[in-house]
Amino acid sequence: MTESISRSITSNQKGPHDKLYETVTKHLETTSQKPIQDHTLEAFNDVTEWLADWDGPIVLDSCCGVGESTASLASRHQEAKVVGLDKSAVRINKHEQNYHLGTENHSVIRADVIDFWRLVVDNNWPVSHHYLLYPNPYPKSAHLKRRWHGSAAFADLIKIGGRLEVRSNWQTYIEEFSLALKYAGLESRWEQLNVTQPMTPFERKYTASGQNCWSVKADLNSEVRAS
Ligand SMILES: C[S@@+](CC[C@H](N)C(=O)[O-])C[C@H]1O[C@@H](n2cnc3c(N)ncnc32)[C@H](O)[C@@H]1O
Repeated sequence: MTESISRSITSNQKGPHDKLYETVTKHLETTSQKPIQDHTLEAFNDVTEWLADWDGPIVLDSCCGVGESTASLASRHQEAKVVGLDKSAVRINKHEQNYHLGTENHSVIRADVIDFWRLVVDNNWPVSHHYLLYPNPYPKSAHLKRRWHGSAAFADLIKIGGRLEVRSNWQTYIEEFSLALKYAGLESRWEQLNVTQPMTPFERKYTASGQNCWSVKADLNSEVRAS
């Protein structure tokens, strides 16, 4: 596979956004009234059918792109069913061709995670691990609310529970995510990654371009899920 070169992130922010606390706490106090879109409801029903009578753990790979990570997570989490989610039909379609590595325990599906996360919470899925690898960073200061931790969907994301891992090539994104978890009453640990075997195409591209990658991990406990 040819490696494309990626420019490192530039932002007009010098560090975590000064409206982060205000934005996160406002979203945590509000319940989303946004109707669930039909296509994501259908996707959720399809995955529910695929899960059939499965009552073991579920691993989510949100914003999975082409689902390379979904396939490798399926090998790593053989005790679980692994669900990859991405809204891009083009990326999802590439999955079957390139990354279906013979594991039976994963499925990659086109869905908007904003609605899908809410359905996961409402249906009380037993999510043991949740990966959110290299979400779009939206580095412009004006775009804080487009970052997952600055969005209304953050409240559902933390209610899903399980062990969460978020990765980014923008240190500020990871620092902000960790702070947002703190504002929600959750402990987390963030660090620079030492990538030897990239998990995703974006991680491979960033590493090949000499960029650092960062990760934040948190155990989203059941108390938060219940609140
Ligand atoms: C930078 S790419 C990273 C893809 C993959 N995780 C990787 O590391 O190679 C971000 C992905 O997030 C997906 N995405 C963005 N917003 C989404 C949403 N609301 N629901 C589902 N996927 C979304 C995009 O389609 C894109 O594939």
